[in-house]
Amino acid sequence: MRETALAPEDLIQPVFVVSGQDRREPVARMPGVDRLSVDLLVEEVQGWRRLGIPAVALFPAVDPSRKSEDGREAWNPDGLVPCALRTLRQTVPDLVLVADVALDPYTSHGHDGLLGPDGTVLNDETLEVLVQQALCLAEAGADVVAPSDMMDGRVGVLRHALESAGYTQTVILSYAAKYASAFYGPFRDAVGSASSLGRGDKSTYQMDPANSDEALREARLDIQEGADILMVKPAGPCLDVIARVRRELGWPTFAYQVSGEYALLESGIRNGLLEGPRAVLESLVAIRRAGADAILTYYAGRVARWLREGVFS
Ligand code: PBG
Repeated sequence: MRETALAPEDLIQPVFVVSGQDRREPVARMPGVDRLSVDLLVEEVQGWRRLGIPAVALFPAVDPSRKSEDGREAWNPDGLVPCALRTLRQTVPDLVLVADVALDPYTSHGHDGLLGPDGTVLNDETLEVLVQQALCLAEAGADVVAPSDMMDGRVGVLRHALESAGYTQTVILSYAAKYASAFYGPFRDAVGSASSLGRGDKSTYQMDPANSDEALREARLDIQEGADILMVKPAGPCLDVIARVRRELGWPTFAYQVSGEYALLESGIRNGLLEGPRAVLESLVAIRRAGADAILTYYAGRVARWLREGVFS
């Protein structure tokens, strides 16, 4: 009688990467989540792969000395993410590698795009550097590039640039409906963009949480521009948006259970207020029931293990 299934194959594990070797640093506001150097990441990823997790999404914690106004480290072929991609490509060949396209881990101001003299984000100038970043990621072996920057028109220019450079198989997972959400705070600690951003906010380019028609307009544009997959983010607070995007547009739709959703669940569980695995499972089944084809969640590896151990049956 069960209408909705949840399997490891539906889950994508986001990971935070740091430079160096044998480094494992806890993320302050995400208990149970660590930033890992590439060598440790390989071991973790092999474990997740064995449990049936098909994909990881990489996010770098860039050393502050490598951040700049224009975020040029974002298209350094020897940067953290390209190196991680090359290593994972070799060591775990059947793993799908998702790489984020946005400048925020690399800019000294923590914004996803370039800033003008008055501090506003420059949409069209940013598109040019996002292209460089996406080409660098595709070259390093990313199967999927995931623009999370929310600049207008970026899917079209990325698609065109990838095709022109011969990356015809690279998938574009577009953060079509990404809200200016209060649930991203712990992630900004994890990649170190929180202190850069300070009191700045991203509401000039991310969406107003009060809107859902706008999410459909954004998603339609991204489909026209060449997106293969749409993403709705955050997930739990946007179940209605996931449902509308999936049903009204009929396009592959992923959802991102973000850092704040994770922090909320995990702190509840650690403080004995919530019943662990069941609360996590319910949060994810609800996102699937709303219509998400796959879910990015920091619980991916753990859920796969719980499923294997029969914790939910
Ligand atoms: C930014 C980006 C963010 C997340 C993924 N990519 C944060 C932001 O927009 O400030 C958040 C993910 C999470 O909270 O888990 N390019």
